[in-house]
Amino acid sequence: MPLSDHAPIETPPRAPSPAHRFGTLAVHAGSPHDQVTGAVIEPISLSTTFAQSAVGQPVGSHEYVRSSNPNRENFERSIAALERAKYALAFSSGSATTATILQSLAAGSHVVSVSDVYGGTHRYFTKVASAHGVRVTFTPSIELDIEGLIKEETKLIWIETPSNPTLSLVDIRAVADVAHRSGIMVVVDNTFLSPYVQNPLDHGADIVVHSVTKYINGHSDVLMGVAAFNSDELLTRLKFLQNAIGAVPSAFDCWLAHRGAKTLHLRAREASKNGQMVAEILEGSPHVVAVNYPGLSSHKQRKIALKQHRDGLGGGMLSFRIKGGKEAAERFCQATQLFTLAESLGGVESLVEVPASMTHMGIPKEQREIAGVFDDLVRLSCGIEDGVDLVADVRQALEKVVVAPKITNGLANGNGTA
Ligand SMILES: Cc1ncc(COP(=O)(O)O)c(C=O)c1O
Repeated sequence: MPLSDHAPIETPPRAPSPAHRFGTLAVHAGSPHDQVTGAVIEPISLSTTFAQSAVGQPVGSHEYVRSSNPNRENFERSIAALERAKYALAFSSGSATTATILQSLAAGSHVVSVSDVYGGTHRYFTKVASAHGVRVTFTPSIELDIEGLIKEETKLIWIETPSNPTLSLVDIRAVADVAHRSGIMVVVDNTFLSPYVQNPLDHGADIVVHSVTKYINGHSDVLMGVAAFNSDELLTRLKFLQNAIGAVPSAFDCWLAHRGAKTLHLRAREASKNGQMVAEILEGSPHVVAVNYPGLSSHKQRKIALKQHRDGLGGGMLSFRIKGGKEAAERFCQATQLFTLAESLGGVESLVEVPASMTHMGIPKEQREIAGVFDDLVRLSCGIEDGVDLVADVRQALEKVVVAPKITNGLANGNGTA
């Protein structure tokens, strides 16, 4: 029976409060010592199958790798602890996580989503979900519109907060309260902040999803996704689909991502400190039209950041509109020396990109601009390098892009060639 046939959705109480704090959980949750050798770090279990002592009686708790394996189980335990959830399930990518959740809806279901979702999520909603009869309505102001957008067939609300790439925030509790009155499930994509900065289940979400590829793994060398939740019924349904669809990560990727998660608190704090420093100098720059960063007091939803984010942190992601349009945005990305021009985010190294021409190119221009994704928007992922060096890099790139061409023109004019 599809999930959507069970209404209203119950949001059971969270797992009992863990005794330990985030950093301790990051290091220890899902990290048992090896029972045989005492190895402090779990071995990588590459076996695809597990012996049975009699028919239907596996020696341990695993039978076949797609259904479960030790490294995936440990990683899932770790993320459940960090998201303050009862359960977590890992997938082969963030996109596979999204697909599996959408696949759990019956044909004919309706979804309401924030407009400025990750481009791949938008593509899935409009080009794939529609093919199996699930319709998605996008809204740029979900807190205001939600009541009017809910229909009889609405089964799921999709939120990205902060959104990608405009860093708009959504008040999760405000949306969840309305959704739950009609038995509708709320999913929050928490990729941009990581579980260190925000725990959406604490604010009323039913499922939190991550592209593990980003902050959780944090070293730009694993593609993976995860969903965390509290409901036993969701566990049964999503675990069934995890196995039936088979979009699962390898044991090696689970091991690497688990290793990454052990330092998440250190990396997320440093990236957030750097994001704040870079956002502040951008905000003070005459070459910048506007800065989107939830750590700034000028951010239009700063109050939500103070309510939902740990210590009101802004995270490591920000975007800004540069003076000089699309060309200036593209030149800026080539002028930075520490920020590498590349897609993705959340790694130890800083990255820069132009969403309208790269990650969000698939969204029609008109829709993109309604969501604030203009051609001159530059997105930065601040890594964990020294913040002073990152600020200097952004400053020199702005000077090169916005000031240097004017000086060159001036000289040219002076030489009487104009
Ligand atoms: C916010 C967000 N959600 C989901 C995804 C998809 O994740 P993956 O690339 O792991 O499939 C991305 C990828 O960039 C993302 O930025």
